[in-house]
Amino acid sequence: MLWKSIVTMVRSSPLFLFLIVSGAVIDLLFRYLSSLSYKYLIDLALLPRDGKALAVIISALLVLGLTNVLAGISSDYAKARLGSNFLFEYRIRLFRHMQLQSQRFYERFGVGDLLARYTDDIPSIQTAVLYILTGGFLSIASVIVGLAILFSMEWKLTLVTLAGSALLFVPFRMLKSRSLALGEAYYKQLDQFNGSIDENIKAYRVIRAFDLRRSMLDKVEGNLRTMLSIGVQRNFVSSNLNRLPMLAISLLTAVILAYGGYLTFDGSLTIGEFIAYNSIFFTVGTSMFGVTSVLPFFLSARTSLERLQQAMDWKPDVIERDGRELSPVRSDIALRDVNFAYVPDEPVLRHLNLTIPVSGYTSIVGPSGAGKSTVLQLLMRFSDPQSGAVMYDGHDIKEAQYASLLRQVGVVFQDSILFHSSIRDNIRVGNPDATQSEILEAARAAGIHETIVGFREGYDTLVSNYGDSLSGGQRQRIALARALLRNPRILFLDEATSALDPDTERAVNETIRALGRRMSIVSVTHRLANAAMSDRIIVLRQGTVAETGTHEQLLQQDGLYRQMWEKQQGFMLAHGGGSAKVQSDRLRKLPFFRGIDTAALEEISRLFVTEKFEAGTTVVEQGDQGDKFYLIARGKVEVVIAAGTGERRKVASLEDGDHFGEIALMQHIPRTATIVTATPCWLLSLSYDHFHPLVMRYPAIREGLEVTLRSRMQRRDD
Ligand SMILES: Nc1ncnc2c1ncn2[C@@H]1O[C@H](COP(=O)(O)OP(=O)(O)OP(=O)(O)O)[C@@H](O)[C@H]1O
Ligand SMILES: [Mg+2]
Repeated sequence: MLWKSIVTMVRSSPLFLFLIVSGAVIDLLFRYLSSLSYKYLIDLALLPRDGKALAVIISALLVLGLTNVLAGISSDYAKARLGSNFLFEYRIRLFRHMQLQSQRFYERFGVGDLLARYTDDIPSIQTAVLYILTGGFLSIASVIVGLAILFSMEWKLTLVTLAGSALLFVPFRMLKSRSLALGEAYYKQLDQFNGSIDENIKAYRVIRAFDLRRSMLDKVEGNLRTMLSIGVQRNFVSSNLNRLPMLAISLLTAVILAYGGYLTFDGSLTIGEFIAYNSIFFTVGTSMFGVTSVLPFFLSARTSLERLQQAMDWKPDVIERDGRELSPVRSDIALRDVNFAYVPDEPVLRHLNLTIPVSGYTSIVGPSGAGKSTVLQLLMRFSDPQSGAVMYDGHDIKEAQYASLLRQVGVVFQDSILFHSSIRDNIRVGNPDATQSEILEAARAAGIHETIVGFREGYDTLVSNYGDSLSGGQRQRIALARALLRNPRILFLDEATSALDPDTERAVNETIRALGRRMSIVSVTHRLANAAMSDRIIVLRQGTVAETGTHEQLLQQDGLYRQMWEKQQGFMLAHGGGSAKVQSDRLRKLPFFRGIDTAALEEISRLFVTEKFEAGTTVVEQGDQGDKFYLIARGKVEVVIAAGTGERRKVASLEDGDHFGEIALMQHIPRTATIVTATPCWLLSLSYDHFHPLVMRYPAIREGLEVTLRSRMQRRDD
């Protein structure tokens, strides 16, 4: 495998290879001729005191030395270029491969793993390849040439040398598997460390809000400590791989000095030959050492190559064909008998059939986890279904050219990620060829132009930190402008406005509704007030279509939609989002307030207090004493349960109209789960202390509450 990388590197530039090889040959010549020169220097010039011969030998050596330096410089340049080309080539290849991938790939590898592949694995392979290509090959050639010369000078002595040199490779055999295992362990820790850094940057708000700094620090410290200890062992093994062959060379030198000295006493070797032999042996020994010193690089590159290969071998979920161009969709888009799962055997969409006419405004609604976002992702071909097909005007999009599909769609997600560049460039992302006036037009249509020109630097204002420097509404409008600049046939919206405050949401929704006259809109939302005005509504439940129709038709059907609608009714949010209220009729729909008379409910409704939370805030913590009941007037929260191992697991999402913590109305007992806000939330809370006097006054409340809550607790305990 490493050979393949070497071949790739060499093929990319024969000229550089030539420079490197000729540099190596000249270096080799220089090494041996200068060693061999001792023989002539001593035997032909020094001992006979011949000045002319001395001058010739010295001049020849000088010329050779100079040539060697020049060849070395051009060879160094070639190495620098080859090495940099290699980094470029492999990094771009991995990047291209990454771009073909979908969610599963990113979930498997994560930021830390991938970064390490770019910044550690590829350079480590590059170092090994360069080392082998230059030092490695040169050393092998040098050993062969040197041994040949030694053989011709004194074969018996050389035979002894050769047998002894096997000793050089003993440490490698002994330490190889240990070195490989340490390399693997090191990279595993490095991936984790990179991941933590990424997490600490992206999730710094959550880390603050949850007071996770200590535990994050502990995690990173533990990680770095392990890396430290593995690093020490790894470096130590590496140095031993280098040093132990030195021991073998010293032993061999001693043998040669003793045996060579004996041969000189004997008269079989001249003094000049003895010194030259030793000098050449020294060069051979250094070259042998050069061969063994490639080995640590070779081992580290082997681990890195495997890791790189893992990523490169990952087959993309979506195979992009150069198929037929998809002509602009006119009639409808549809899912036909679609089955889809993220995880094998956990189906998310089951035999799903749905058709969305490409006209007007379509809403997709349904409980959290019903598969709404998944449907959008399949419609945009972020993934392919396991069976069934996604059709545009009756054509399977798998058969069509991918780019021609993407040209037809625009999308705005709930959390729009903007890039670190100017607002203008962020909008231009939608269509890189757009003119200045088209960009302004898109911004006007998205209702953000006036705001942008109000900024000191207008369209050149820099957007930093994924869009954090802007308000939520501004960010969503820029994302909308970006999508509109594509002039899409269909605009997909996935909860595009649900994280905004009520006034901004209303304004952005009016903008979107006005756009509905120019293009077809498919909007996923859990807020039914937004869906109510649609031309058609598709209600999903557990990956299948439960109902379809207009708002009025669905209310008449008295099914899931109506249930969800009623759950979300009865809340009032003051303009500006300052405070919320719940109507007494809405309270009556809560099972534990059923049957309580209106006067009492009125009183209860007045006891609720509005609490506003930013996204990522903990509202109640598992294990804390509960003293409040909560109603979600607006927003989405996640229910998280910490297992015995300390691992937190999301078990459910709750949204507009849902409630939690009702057991606290009856008694103070520890919370059974943690509740974290997923979007900005307006919660209505009722505290035990306020509520309790009422329970004393109205015994009916206590009875009703006790019955329902006891049966609930019973169910939970079962
Ligand atoms: N990447 C993923 N890996 C594994 N399971 C996933 C993944 N994404 C979603 N799911 C699961 O698929 C199901 C449907 O998810 P989806 O995001 O489509 O729901 P949704 O209707 O959009 O919900 P919400 O209203 O909460 O956004 C859920 O059970 C979810 O847990
Ligand atoms: Mg969703």
